[in-house]
Amino acid sequence: MQGAVALPRVRRAVRPLQMHLESRSPMGPKSDFHSLTVAEVRQETPDAVSIRFHLPDEAREQFAFQAGQYLTLRAEIAGEDVRRNYSVCSSPLDGELRVAVKALEGGAFSGYATRELKAGDRIDVMPATGHFTALFEAGRERHYAAFAAGSGITPILSLIKTALSVEDTSRFTLFYGNRVSAHILFLEELSGLKNRFMGRLEIYHFLTLEEEEIDLFNGRLDRAKCDEILDTLIDPSAIDMAFACGPEGMMLAAEAALLAHDVAPDRILLERFATGGARVLDAAARERADAAKGRQMGVVLDGRKLTVAFDAESGNILDSVRKTGAPAPFACKGGVCATCRAKVVSGDVEMRINYGLTPEEVEQGYVLTCQSVPLSDDVVVSYDS
Ligand code: FES
Repeated sequence: MQGAVALPRVRRAVRPLQMHLESRSPMGPKSDFHSLTVAEVRQETPDAVSIRFHLPDEAREQFAFQAGQYLTLRAEIAGEDVRRNYSVCSSPLDGELRVAVKALEGGAFSGYATRELKAGDRIDVMPATGHFTALFEAGRERHYAAFAAGSGITPILSLIKTALSVEDTSRFTLFYGNRVSAHILFLEELSGLKNRFMGRLEIYHFLTLEEEEIDLFNGRLDRAKCDEILDTLIDPSAIDMAFACGPEGMMLAAEAALLAHDVAPDRILLERFATGGARVLDAAARERADAAKGRQMGVVLDGRKLTVAFDAESGNILDSVRKTGAPAPFACKGGVCATCRAKVVSGDVEMRINYGLTPEEVEQGYVLTCQSVPLSDDVVVSYDS
């Protein structure tokens, strides 16, 4: 996903609502969950698996994806509707749909997926989405760079395979941080890709808990390390597009170092994961939510228009809609995934946090409803637009 953009109020003139029921695929809208069968669960490292889904012919179009995008998975765990986004690690050219899941301490979904899920199980999956991608075109000669740490390699693996397959003279350089070599996700596959794309893929590993002879390869990808990389391992002026995925601190370090080495901001893409902080309202946001208490909103969802009262307690439009029982889509509730995206058809809406929408989408009137509050009495938002 793209970096943070300014958080605007979105104002839209009242205009007739348009329903688009006729354009739906037979499997339903892309924002719906579909039950898919797990074809394979493969142990990738001691604490990570990859999951391949069986795709029946009628689902192939619905589940088409671009390199770098992610799926939202849903399961009921201990009576709770738990949803998580996982990046696709396969390339659209591989002919398979596969995600990687790493077990996190106390992680409800990752614990379930890495320990309990098995081939033959069914799981709810929402088709791919996300902006952490690029347009790859045959005949182009570009140099891509990526900074990844831990399971942040997942979308980057897909990008590497796709970029180097589609553009047969492009190059890719990967800087990949991990704690120890035994936990390097997709180590074997990356080595295979180095052989397959001989001379066009360079990979540098950085370990925090194992010592290398060359000091540059010891320690985490912090700002100093990223600066050193850009001073010594790659010519920043030759980078056409840079990707970063992993913990927030690593991504911010990579972004700052790239900017300081004159890589233009529109050539840097970060893939963020939601943080708990985005779900907690600060004092100003709490005040705005309280002021909007009970405000009536029009909500278009799956071709129906509902009237929903804003729920100040939950503090956002998404939860207000879901409290009525309407299945408004969501995943992270942290302003990152954009699953809860809706268009402001009329009225005045304020969006608190936005890591998921592009500036163009914001310009077109889209908001993340998990981060939005109605500021006027004529608000209508459409999840169908
Ligand atoms: S649910 Fe992810 S941005 Fe709103």
